Amino acid sequence: MKMKLNVLISLLISISLNISSVLALENTQAAVAMPDSYSANVAVDVLQRGGNAIDAAIAAQFVLAVTLPEAGNVGGGGFMTIYKDGQADFLDYREVAPLKAHRDMYLDDSGNVIENKSLYGILSSGVPGTVDGMWQAHKKYGSKPWQELLAPAIKFAEQGFIVHPEMVKNIQWRINSFNKEGVKVNFAQYFANAKAGEIFKQPELAATLKRISEKGRDGFYKGETAKIISQFMLKHGGIIGMPDLAEYKAIWRTPIQQSWREYQVITAPPPSSGGIAILQWLKMYDLVKPQSTILEHNSVQYMHLLAEIGKRVFADRAEYIGDPDFVSVAQAQLVDDKYIAMRAEGIRPNVVSDSESIEPGLKESEDTTHFSIVDKWGNAVSNTTTINYTFGSGVIVEGAGFILNDEMDDFSVKAGVANVYGAIGGQANEIQPNKRMVSSMTPTILLKNNEVQVVTGSPGGTTIITSVYQSILNVVEFGMSAEQAVNTPRFHHQLWPKNEIRYYSGINASTLAELQKLGYNFKQSNFGDVQLISRKNGVLAAASETNGRGKSIVIN
Ligand code: DON
Repeated sequence: MKMKLNVLISLLISISLNISSVLALENTQAAVAMPDSYSANVAVDVLQRGGNAIDAAIAAQFVLAVTLPEAGNVGGGGFMTIYKDGQADFLDYREVAPLKAHRDMYLDDSGNVIENKSLYGILSSGVPGTVDGMWQAHKKYGSKPWQELLAPAIKFAEQGFIVHPEMVKNIQWRINSFNKEGVKVNFAQYFANAKAGEIFKQPELAATLKRISEKGRDGFYKGETAKIISQFMLKHGGIIGMPDLAEYKAIWRTPIQQSWREYQVITAPPPSSGGIAILQWLKMYDLVKPQSTILEHNSVQYMHLLAEIGKRVFADRAEYIGDPDFVSVAQAQLVDDKYIAMRAEGIRPNVVSDSESIEPGLKESEDTTHFSIVDKWGNAVSNTTTINYTFGSGVIVEGAGFILNDEMDDFSVKAGVANVYGAIGGQANEIQPNKRMVSSMTPTILLKNNEVQVVTGSPGGTTIITSVYQSILNVVEFGMSAEQAVNTPRFHHQLWPKNEIRYYSGINASTLAELQKLGYNFKQSNFGDVQLISRKNGVLAAASETNGRGKSIVIN
């Protein structure tokens, strides 16, 4: 009898707990910050139909492959940082070098880099990872049927969508620059007729998406699509074949999780350089800033200190970061508090360090898009995906209708030679078959007491790292709203070019003049497209940078 009473009591407690968590669910907001309106509306629709953040992410990823062809993709790869049911996770669906790739494949007989070979055309692509990535994400966390999540993308590809003027501008820019540089690719054949405000259909892509919808990953990496890809490669001198596709595997990795102030930062591990970089930046900033005050935002001292940190961060990036399945990356050491304190030692409030003098610290290594989602259960997805440069390699797989990435340029094609983002690398990031190229993509989630506080990320090559850590400082250090955090002017320094600060218009001219006296030079250019969700006093806010064509929605 006593036993039975205990059972009854625990049953009652568990029922009441369940009821309260259901009540909590219904009172909890959800939010999306997406790089275009199509993906935003689809993600909200999935969430409102009871899907979780991962379901919404999968549906949005495929929609972006249709409506944001500059970066959205099935022919590229990316990283997804996940916080689900109180657990952090990380999906690496980065492209890999084809099996026939080799270290010197972009060098001529004299060992010089052949211009543009790793950046445009059929040889610039890594083996795409996106479809397997979404498939793995769905297998582990999805709650809605796969086909239901593919349906909106298929509809936009088959029936068309209304083209944003920004997309036409980007297409024109890309076609003109290909013509100017004498790059021979089939990009214009597929995209030249897109007109602002008019419907644009992609029937070949629709057929590819249908095969993915029906057969899952095998609808891309095997069968009809794989045959189309490998025959297209063979015909045009490419090297991605059936074995490359069959062998591709997205990888579940342990995300970097580190405390910073009162937050738990969940971010991207290698082959991303971004997670290590933002932690170095955030932690080093706390060591070099005046301890008693908050520096004025974008003031001379703030910009100088962050530029000095950037030099050290990028020296480490060039030397130590590579695919962890090929080179050993001293990840724990690089974000260790003592190591960071040692790195901070040389930073002076009024002296610009010589770029030549900044060495890596361990003595013993445009176009992308990002979205952030929080569901009503408090789960979060921070996803950055890319085909590398705007419209990737410029090559569309004929018959399959999707753009191939030009991710091979993210390898160090020759030690010490900068890639398109000015990033320099060495042995750790040299080309090897089946190896992942180093990335700057940094999808990041901040928790406080296990509750999601910030979800952030951005495109922008190496500037991604800057956009991410500055958006975090904007929220945490300066108490900005989500809108302010994404739209306030940013600046970037990455060791090389020497003492160059890239900056958004809107930074005070007198601040720049003071920094110039210290020895900096400047290049004005916007970078990134931050999509950020933040929670302030328990209330969610979401924002898309106004430079882009993003859309953010909070579901109350
Ligand atoms: O993975 C990387 O770091 C690059 N492929 C990202 C490229 C990118 O962000 C282009 N965006 N504007």
